[in-house]
Amino acid sequence: MYVCFCAAVTDVEVRACAMDGAGTVEEVGEWCLAGTGCGGCREHIAALLAATWPAESWEPLQRSA
Ligand code: FES
Repeated sequence: MYVCFCAAVTDVEVRACAMDGAGTVEEVGEWCLAGTGCGGCREHIAALLAATWPAESWEPLQRSA
């Protein structure tokens, strides 16, 4: 399902960013451009991040160079 229509990014891609270490909406935007257009999807991206990394277990992998 598309989360960001401006950048044509799906929920699967946002979750992949999170699993790769993106911990904020801004980081997701840097990695896949989601949320960098009109901004209308930023709350949904944040919810996907929160679901991927619940606060008590937030420990994303470090981004490899
Ligand atoms: S729908 Fe994601 S930035 Fe516009």
